Amino acid sequence: MEIQLWREILDPYGQAVSEITTKLNNFRLECKNHNIYCPMESIQGRVKEVSGIIDKMRRKGIPFERMEEEIEDIAGIRIICQFIEDIEAAVEVIEKRTDMEILHRKDYLTNQKKSGYRSYHLIIAYTVNTMKGPKRLQAEIQVRTMAMNFWATSEHFLQYKYKNQLPEQISAQLERIAQATTQLDEEMMKVRNEIMDAENNNSIQCLLVKDILNTIENLYRLSNNEREAIKIQDEFYRIYQLNDLNALQHFHDQLDILSEDNQTQSIN
Ligand code: GTP
Ligand code: MG
Repeated sequence: MEIQLWREILDPYGQAVSEITTKLNNFRLECKNHNIYCPMESIQGRVKEVSGIIDKMRRKGIPFERMEEEIEDIAGIRIICQFIEDIEAAVEVIEKRTDMEILHRKDYLTNQKKSGYRSYHLIIAYTVNTMKGPKRLQAEIQVRTMAMNFWATSEHFLQYKYKNQLPEQISAQLERIAQATTQLDEEMMKVRNEIMDAENNNSIQCLLVKDILNTIENLYRLSNNEREAIKIQDEFYRIYQLNDLNALQHFHDQLDILSEDNQTQSIN
Protein backbone atom coordinates (compact mmCIF):
# COMPACT_ATOMS: atom_id res chain seq x y z
CA MET A 1 0.00 0.00 0.00
CA GLU A 2 1.23 3.47 -0.88
CA ILE A 3 1.49 6.23 1.70
CA GLN A 4 -1.76 8.17 2.04
CA LEU A 5 -1.16 11.84 2.66
CA TRP A 6 -4.48 12.67 4.26
CA ARG A 7 -3.79 16.29 4.95
CA GLU A 8 -2.77 16.91 1.36
CA ILE A 9 -5.85 15.07 0.09
CA LEU A 10 -8.26 16.86 2.41
CA ASP A 11 -6.89 20.41 2.18
CA PRO A 12 -8.69 21.27 -1.10
CA TYR A 13 -11.94 20.02 0.47
CA GLY A 14 -11.37 22.35 3.40
CA GLN A 15 -10.82 25.16 0.96
CA ALA A 16 -14.04 24.25 -0.90
CA VAL A 17 -16.07 24.22 2.33
CA SER A 18 -14.69 27.57 3.36
CA GLU A 19 -15.31 29.13 -0.07
CA ILE A 20 -18.82 27.75 -0.49
CA THR A 21 -19.96 28.77 3.00
CA THR A 22 -18.52 32.25 2.45
CA LYS A 23 -20.27 32.56 -0.91
CA LEU A 24 -23.62 31.47 0.52
CA ASN A 25 -23.21 33.79 3.48
CA ASN A 26 -22.51 36.60 1.05
CA PHE A 27 -25.75 35.75 -0.70
CA ARG A 28 -27.52 36.10 2.66
CA LEU A 29 -25.84 39.45 3.20
CA GLU A 30 -26.90 40.61 -0.27
CA CYS A 31 -30.51 39.74 0.55
CA LYS A 32 -30.26 41.62 3.82
CA ASN A 33 -28.81 44.72 2.19
CA HIS A 34 -31.52 44.69 -0.46
CA ASN A 35 -34.18 44.00 2.13
CA ILE A 36 -35.20 40.79 0.35
CA TYR A 37 -36.31 37.73 2.30
CA CYS A 38 -33.52 35.15 2.32
CA PRO A 39 -34.57 31.49 2.08
CA MET A 40 -31.37 30.49 3.88
CA GLU A 41 -31.49 31.04 7.62
CA SER A 42 -27.94 29.80 8.26
CA ILE A 43 -25.08 27.95 6.61
CA GLN A 44 -22.85 25.29 8.11
CA GLY A 45 -19.92 23.43 6.67
CA ARG A 46 -17.45 20.74 7.59
CA VAL A 47 -14.86 18.40 6.12
CA LYS A 48 -15.58 14.76 6.88
CA GLU A 49 -13.31 13.38 9.58
CA VAL A 50 -10.69 10.90 8.37
CA SER A 51 -12.21 8.28 10.66
CA GLY A 52 -15.59 8.89 9.04
CA ILE A 53 -14.08 8.51 5.57
CA ILE A 54 -12.32 5.26 6.52
CA ASP A 55 -15.52 3.90 8.11
CA LYS A 56 -17.54 4.70 5.01
CA MET A 57 -14.97 3.14 2.65
CA ARG A 58 -14.99 -0.02 4.72
CA ARG A 59 -18.79 -0.08 4.98
CA LYS A 60 -19.24 0.35 1.23
CA GLY A 61 -16.19 -1.59 0.08
CA ILE A 62 -14.65 1.45 -1.61
CA PRO A 63 -10.95 1.12 -2.51
CA PHE A 64 -8.69 4.04 -1.66
CA GLU A 65 -8.16 4.91 -5.34
CA ARG A 66 -11.88 5.51 -5.78
CA MET A 67 -12.41 7.42 -2.56
CA GLU A 68 -12.77 10.90 -4.08
CA GLU A 69 -15.24 9.73 -6.75
CA GLU A 70 -17.32 7.54 -4.48
CA ILE A 71 -17.48 9.57 -1.30
CA GLU A 72 -19.49 12.60 -2.24
CA ASP A 73 -19.66 14.19 1.18
CA ILE A 74 -15.99 14.73 2.04
CA ALA A 75 -16.92 18.40 1.68
CA GLY A 76 -20.28 18.95 3.36
CA ILE A 77 -22.39 22.10 3.41
CA ARG A 78 -25.68 22.47 5.21
CA ILE A 79 -28.25 25.10 4.40
CA ILE A 80 -30.77 25.54 7.20
CA CYS A 81 -34.12 27.09 6.28
CA GLN A 82 -36.97 28.42 8.39
CA PHE A 83 -39.78 26.99 6.28
CA ILE A 84 -40.25 23.97 3.99
CA GLU A 85 -41.01 26.28 1.06
CA ASP A 86 -37.63 27.93 1.52
CA ILE A 87 -35.88 24.68 0.62
CA GLU A 88 -36.96 24.92 -3.00
CA ALA A 89 -35.99 28.58 -3.15
CA ALA A 90 -32.57 27.81 -1.66
CA VAL A 91 -32.04 25.04 -4.22
CA GLU A 92 -32.92 27.51 -6.98
CA VAL A 93 -30.20 29.83 -5.72
CA ILE A 94 -27.65 27.04 -6.19
CA GLU A 95 -29.10 26.09 -9.59
CA LYS A 96 -28.55 29.63 -10.88
CA ARG A 97 -24.90 29.81 -9.84
CA THR A 98 -22.24 29.29 -12.46
CA ASP A 99 -19.57 28.21 -9.98
CA MET A 100 -21.48 25.21 -8.63
CA GLU A 101 -22.60 22.48 -11.00
CA ILE A 102 -25.31 20.15 -9.76
CA LEU A 103 -24.33 16.57 -10.55
CA HIS A 104 -27.31 14.88 -8.93
CA ARG A 105 -29.95 15.22 -6.25
CA LYS A 106 -31.40 13.10 -3.48
CA ASP A 107 -34.89 14.06 -2.47
CA TYR A 108 -35.54 12.73 1.02
CA LEU A 109 -38.46 15.14 1.36
CA THR A 110 -40.78 13.30 -1.00
CA ASN A 111 -38.95 10.06 -0.20
CA GLN A 112 -38.53 10.24 3.54
CA LYS A 113 -36.04 7.64 4.77
CA LYS A 114 -37.23 4.75 6.90
CA SER A 115 -35.29 6.21 9.80
CA GLY A 116 -37.50 9.32 9.58
CA TYR A 117 -34.74 11.39 7.94
CA ARG A 118 -35.88 14.30 5.76
CA SER A 119 -33.66 16.64 3.72
CA TYR A 120 -32.94 17.66 0.16
CA HIS A 121 -29.41 16.85 -1.02
CA LEU A 122 -27.47 18.29 -3.91
CA ILE A 123 -24.20 16.77 -5.01
CA ILE A 124 -22.25 19.48 -6.76
CA ALA A 125 -18.98 19.80 -8.63
CA TYR A 126 -16.89 22.72 -7.45
CA THR A 127 -13.45 23.89 -8.55
CA VAL A 128 -10.91 25.21 -6.10
CA ASN A 129 -7.68 26.86 -7.16
CA THR A 130 -4.76 25.57 -5.15
CA MET A 131 -1.02 26.05 -5.35
CA LYS A 132 -0.93 23.05 -7.64
CA GLY A 133 -3.57 24.51 -9.95
CA PRO A 134 -7.32 24.03 -10.26
CA LYS A 135 -8.96 20.98 -8.70
CA ARG A 136 -12.54 19.97 -9.44
CA LEU A 137 -14.10 18.10 -6.57
CA GLN A 138 -17.48 17.01 -5.24
CA ALA A 139 -19.39 18.48 -2.35
CA GLU A 140 -22.69 17.56 -0.75
CA ILE A 141 -25.14 20.33 0.06
CA GLN A 142 -27.90 19.32 2.49
CA VAL A 143 -30.88 21.63 2.50
CA ARG A 144 -33.32 21.24 5.39
CA THR A 145 -35.51 23.12 7.83
CA MET A 146 -34.51 23.88 11.41
CA ALA A 147 -36.91 21.18 12.60
CA MET A 148 -35.42 18.60 10.23
CA ASN A 149 -31.97 19.61 11.37
CA PHE A 150 -32.90 19.25 15.02
CA TRP A 151 -34.13 15.72 14.37
CA ALA A 152 -31.18 14.67 12.16
CA THR A 153 -28.57 16.02 14.57
CA SER A 154 -30.13 14.27 17.55
CA GLU A 155 -30.58 11.00 15.64
CA HIS A 156 -26.99 11.16 14.44
CA PHE A 157 -25.70 11.35 18.03
CA LEU A 158 -27.93 8.49 19.10
CA GLN A 159 -26.70 6.35 16.18
CA TYR A 160 -23.18 7.12 17.29
CA LYS A 161 -23.92 6.29 20.90
CA TYR A 162 -25.53 2.96 20.01
CA LYS A 163 -23.02 2.19 17.23
CA ASN A 164 -25.79 2.21 14.59
CA GLN A 165 -27.78 -0.42 16.51
CA LEU A 166 -30.60 1.65 17.96
CA PRO A 167 -32.70 -0.12 20.57
CA GLU A 168 -36.26 -0.72 19.36
CA GLN A 169 -37.68 1.70 21.89
CA ILE A 170 -35.42 4.57 20.79
CA SER A 171 -36.15 3.91 17.10
CA ALA A 172 -39.83 4.11 17.83
CA GLN A 173 -39.33 7.32 19.79
CA LEU A 174 -37.35 8.84 16.92
CA GLU A 175 -40.06 7.88 14.48
CA ARG A 176 -42.64 9.67 16.60
CA ILE A 177 -40.39 12.72 16.88
CA ALA A 178 -39.90 12.68 13.10
CA GLN A 179 -43.68 12.78 12.67
CA ALA A 180 -43.88 15.63 15.14
CA THR A 181 -41.22 17.62 13.25
CA THR A 182 -43.13 17.11 9.99
CA GLN A 183 -46.21 18.44 11.73
CA LEU A 184 -44.22 21.34 13.17
CA ASP A 185 -42.97 22.26 9.68
CA GLU A 186 -46.52 22.16 8.36
CA GLU A 187 -47.84 24.33 11.19
CA MET A 188 -45.00 26.81 10.71
CA MET A 189 -45.88 27.10 7.04
CA LYS A 190 -49.33 28.34 8.03
CA VAL A 191 -47.88 31.29 9.95
CA ARG A 192 -45.13 31.88 7.40
CA ASN A 193 -46.65 35.01 5.89
CA GLU A 194 -47.14 36.59 9.26
CA ILE A 195 -43.61 35.77 10.35
CA MET A 196 -42.20 37.03 7.06
CA ASP A 197 -44.16 40.25 7.51
CA ALA A 198 -42.70 40.76 10.96
CA GLU A 199 -39.19 39.99 9.68
CA ASN A 200 -39.66 42.40 6.84
CA ASN A 201 -40.79 45.21 9.16
CA ASN A 202 -37.89 44.50 11.45
CA SER A 203 -35.35 44.78 8.67
CA ILE A 204 -36.99 47.93 7.29
CA GLN A 205 -36.73 49.45 10.76
CA CYS A 206 -33.04 48.50 11.00
CA LEU A 207 -32.31 50.05 7.60
CA LEU A 208 -34.22 53.23 8.48
CA VAL A 209 -32.41 53.67 11.80
CA LYS A 210 -29.03 53.11 10.16
CA ASP A 211 -29.84 55.56 7.40
CA ILE A 212 -31.21 58.22 9.76
CA LEU A 213 -28.20 58.12 12.07
CA ASN A 214 -25.91 58.24 9.06
CA THR A 215 -27.69 61.33 7.73
CA ILE A 216 -27.55 63.03 11.11
CA GLU A 217 -23.84 62.34 11.29
CA ASN A 218 -23.31 63.75 7.79
CA LEU A 219 -25.39 66.81 8.63
CA TYR A 220 -23.27 67.38 11.71
CA ARG A 221 -20.00 67.00 9.81
CA LEU A 222 -21.05 69.03 6.77
CA SER A 223 -22.82 71.93 8.48
CA ASN A 224 -20.71 71.84 11.61
CA ASN A 225 -23.90 72.82 13.39
CA GLU A 226 -23.81 70.73 16.52
CA ARG A 227 -26.91 72.26 18.07
CA GLU A 228 -29.03 71.52 15.03
CA ALA A 229 -27.67 67.94 14.85
CA ILE A 230 -28.43 67.31 18.52
CA LYS A 231 -31.95 68.67 18.06
CA ILE A 232 -32.57 66.26 15.19
CA GLN A 233 -31.00 63.43 17.13
CA ASP A 234 -33.28 64.06 20.12
CA GLU A 235 -36.27 64.13 17.81
CA PHE A 236 -35.15 60.81 16.33
CA TYR A 237 -34.95 59.14 19.75
CA ARG A 238 -38.38 60.50 20.60
CA ILE A 239 -39.92 59.09 17.43
CA TYR A 240 -38.05 55.81 17.75
CA GLN A 241 -39.66 55.31 21.16
CA LEU A 242 -43.12 55.54 19.60
CA ASN A 243 -42.44 52.17 17.98
CA ASP A 244 -44.34 53.28 14.88
CA LEU A 245 -42.75 52.28 11.60
CA ASN A 246 -44.77 54.79 9.58
CA ALA A 247 -43.69 57.64 11.82
CA LEU A 248 -40.09 56.50 11.54
CA GLN A 249 -40.38 56.33 7.75
CA HIS A 250 -41.88 59.84 7.69
CA PHE A 251 -39.09 61.20 9.88
CA HIS A 252 -36.54 59.51 7.61
CA ASP A 253 -38.05 61.10 4.47
CA GLN A 254 -38.23 64.55 6.07
CA LEU A 255 -34.64 64.26 7.18
CA ASP A 256 -33.65 63.29 3.66
CA ILE A 257 -35.20 66.45 2.27
CA LEU A 258 -33.47 68.54 4.92
CA SER A 259 -30.14 66.93 4.18
CA GLU A 260 -30.54 67.50 0.44
CA ASP A 261 -31.32 71.17 1.06
CA ASN A 262 -28.26 71.38 3.24
CA GLN A 263 -26.08 69.84 0.58
CA THR A 264 -27.29 72.22 -2.12
CA GLN A 265 -26.69 75.11 0.24
CA SER A 266 -23.16 74.01 0.97
CA ILE A 267 -22.46 73.54 -2.76
CA ASN A 268 -23.78 77.03 -3.51
P1 GTP B 1 -23.85 7.89 4.06
O1 GTP B 1 -25.22 7.81 4.69
O2 GTP B 1 -23.04 9.02 4.59
O3 GTP B 1 -23.15 6.59 4.04
O4 GTP B 1 -24.03 8.30 2.55
P2 GTP B 1 -24.89 7.66 1.41
O5 GTP B 1 -24.04 7.53 0.23
O6 GTP B 1 -25.64 6.45 1.88
O7 GTP B 1 -25.90 8.82 1.10
P3 GTP B 1 -27.15 9.26 1.95
O8 GTP B 1 -27.90 10.14 1.04
O9 GTP B 1 -27.83 8.07 2.53
O10 GTP B 1 -26.56 10.10 3.15
C1 GTP B 1 -25.81 11.26 2.97
C2 GTP B 1 -25.79 12.05 4.26
O11 GTP B 1 -27.12 12.37 4.63
C3 GTP B 1 -25.24 11.35 5.47
O12 GTP B 1 -23.86 11.47 5.55
C4 GTP B 1 -25.94 12.07 6.61
O13 GTP B 1 -25.32 13.30 6.85
C5 GTP B 1 -27.30 12.32 6.02
N1 GTP B 1 -28.21 11.24 6.36
C6 GTP B 1 -28.70 10.30 5.52
N2 GTP B 1 -29.54 9.48 6.16
C7 GTP B 1 -29.60 9.88 7.43
C8 GTP B 1 -30.30 9.43 8.60
O14 GTP B 1 -31.06 8.47 8.59
N3 GTP B 1 -30.09 10.12 9.76
C9 GTP B 1 -29.26 11.19 9.82
N4 GTP B 1 -29.11 11.80 11.00
N5 GTP B 1 -28.61 11.66 8.74
C10 GTP B 1 -28.75 11.01 7.57
MG1 MG C 1 -26.63 6.61 3.96
